[in-house]
Amino acid sequence: AIHPVILCGGSGTRLWPLSRQSYPKQFVPLVGEETLFQASARRLSGRDFAAPLILTGSDFRFIVVEQLQSIGIDPGAILIEPEGRNTAPAILAAAMYLAKSDPDAVMLVAPSDHVLPDTEAFHDAVQQGLAAVEQGRLVTFGIHPAGPNTGYGYLELAAEPDGTGAAVALKSFVEKPCIDTAKTMVDAGNFLWNAGIFLFRVGDVLDAFNQLAADLVAPVQGAVDGAKPDLGFLRLSPEPWQNCPDISVDYAVMEKATNLSVVPYSGGWSDLGGWDAVWSESQPTDRGVVLSGSATSIDCANSLLRSDSENLELVGIGLENIIAVAMNDAVLVADKSRAQDVKLAVSALKSKN
Ligand code: GDD
Ligand code: MG
Repeated sequence: AIHPVILCGGSGTRLWPLSRQSYPKQFVPLVGEETLFQASARRLSGRDFAAPLILTGSDFRFIVVEQLQSIGIDPGAILIEPEGRNTAPAILAAAMYLAKSDPDAVMLVAPSDHVLPDTEAFHDAVQQGLAAVEQGRLVTFGIHPAGPNTGYGYLELAAEPDGTGAAVALKSFVEKPCIDTAKTMVDAGNFLWNAGIFLFRVGDVLDAFNQLAADLVAPVQGAVDGAKPDLGFLRLSPEPWQNCPDISVDYAVMEKATNLSVVPYSGGWSDLGGWDAVWSESQPTDRGVVLSGSATSIDCANSLLRSDSENLELVGIGLENIIAVAMNDAVLVADKSRAQDVKLAVSALKSKN
């Protein structure tokens, strides 16, 4: 069975006021009834998968348990990071934890905040990836780029995909390029976006860390070996963890590795990087309006109106291209074309308080 490793540490500021430091976007229902975290856990359950290993921070541990319980999924283990140190230490800790019972286990690392509407297509892609994993490859999943977005990693294909969906070797991995490089890569046509999902054998990823990111190995090993059980959670040991660099797996390992492959994925993917993406992933109906919670539209078009507060009715009249989100303690009203600037609201409020 494949061991799912679900990362849910980060917080997305571009979905303020819904996504908060204390309650990040993956734990909120954004598209559909389930939260993104629940949808991720469900997507990684079934006969091909072992119980998931969850990595999160102390603040979110009870949310994780509650949200898994309510969809009937038992976590294999919940590892608590003393502090967020980005994805490289988290993934390395997961690999070291799994290695204790089986260094040959295959792990599937997945973020908790993406939308992948077609579970069957995703499972097929994972099966394609397994063939490459058997050859000792570190497998990524690649998305056809919709434009020169600088927030993603770029995967350079070494050959044309053969049309069967099989994995293709990578020539290079470029994390978060500048805009000019991103444009050149999109124009070149042989680059895909990195979906942020990885599949590999535990022993192979441990080898990669040992060779390419050796400074992480001792602190993370110390934190895993010294981990303490606490009410069903496993707390990584804080002292060694403190000495661990803060770095993403993309920079620490993927940019340097020479045994990468990619499974091209066309089953639909969004990282919901802003309210504009929430609007489009919610499949807006008549005149492009998305309503949720206690919200009402009168003659609005191409807008998202959402109230998550039970005692706050939100009514839009004659709006066009507007994002309006109401919570008990905050209201956002923005032009839809400025959705990416919502992160400015968070920093503006921080400097005010
Ligand atoms: N447990 C844990 N601890 N999870 C973390 C931590 C951490 O310290 N930091 C981030 N995560 C989780 C986030 O919650 C998210 O689910 C996932 O790991 C990826 O982290 P992001 O911070 O969202 O990464 P990114 O979006 O900037 O970039 C990554 O994803 C892109 C696709 O969305 C990279 O892999 C890019 O190459 C990729 O294109
Ligand atoms: Mg992300």
